[in-house]
Amino acid sequence: MNFARLATDFAGIKMKTPVMGASGTFGFGIEYKDFLALDRVGAIISKGLTPLPRAGNEGVRIAETPGGMLNCIGLENPGIDSFLAEILPRVREQVGDTAFIANFSAGTVEDYGMMAAKLDVDGVDGVEVNISCPNVREGGIVFGTDPKAAAAVTEAVRKNTGKPVIVKLSPNVTDIAVMAKAVEEAGADAIALINTLTGMVIDTKSWRPLLGNVTGGLSGPAVKPIAVRMVWQAANAVRIPVLGLGGIASGEDAVEFLLAGASAVAVGAENFVHPDAVERVAEDIDAYLEARGLTHVSQLVGKVKIG
Ligand SMILES: Cc1cc2nc3c(=O)[nH]c(=O)nc-3n(C[C@H](O)[C@H](O)[C@H](O)COP(=O)(O)O)c2cc1C
Repeated sequence: MNFARLATDFAGIKMKTPVMGASGTFGFGIEYKDFLALDRVGAIISKGLTPLPRAGNEGVRIAETPGGMLNCIGLENPGIDSFLAEILPRVREQVGDTAFIANFSAGTVEDYGMMAAKLDVDGVDGVEVNISCPNVREGGIVFGTDPKAAAAVTEAVRKNTGKPVIVKLSPNVTDIAVMAKAVEEAGADAIALINTLTGMVIDTKSWRPLLGNVTGGLSGPAVKPIAVRMVWQAANAVRIPVLGLGGIASGEDAVEFLLAGASAVAVGAENFVHPDAVERVAEDIDAYLEARGLTHVSQLVGKVKIG
């Protein structure tokens, strides 16, 4: 892998490659240390943290669907305090200089601000604000579908941290450009999209929903064309950088997001199929660049030819 071709500064976060492990699919990074070289990962984005520990939703939390999966984990996590005391030091010991981005959500604007302040510590290179989790009532999606609420959360986070702030948008909206502009104006340094699309599966034998939470979030290859379209629309609406994700399983998938306007990408559900996917996608992007005589990955960003 030629790091000179791949090195990316994403909203002030220095990464060796433009490929990150997506929140909720990559643990805290260290769980993957036997499957790939963590120092060849662009950035680790943590599982979504919340003010208090959460056990997540009851019942079945994962269902396979054609070309993807539904999940309704419900933000199971150890809580911010235990993360800071016990997990972050271990992460820093084991991942070397790989960038670490803390993903979090909360139930109120004030708690989003409080979380941002607590995460403004050494060892955290940036924060990703989840306003788009479809699987919990309090927090997440309520803020992600209303531009005013999304802006209020972004402002509260911005005021409470000196770290780069990435706001993760929901695809469950009519006009993604409106949401992207709202958080840009409120002080976001970057946006990430897409989170999962709300879906449902029904068992035709029992006539019951397969998932304990009734609905869940769809991810995987099935969502990729929607994600690419939304990244393209959002990138055209704002000046801040875009982190693109949704169904990326190969270097060519990632290249589509870059051409659509993303400056970096993240791999989610594919980590469950191939736990070395984050490293492999970066290698594939590098091979793609080399084959075309391109000297840096930024030469692809937003270069989709339209008209
Ligand atoms: C099991 C699972 C857990 C997830 N947990 C989170 C989370 O805690 N916070 C978050 O912002 N996104 C979470 N996501 C969403 C992913 O980060 C990503 O936005 C989405 O799955 C689309 O990418 P993919 O198709 O590559 O998986 C989760 C996704 C899955 C599949």
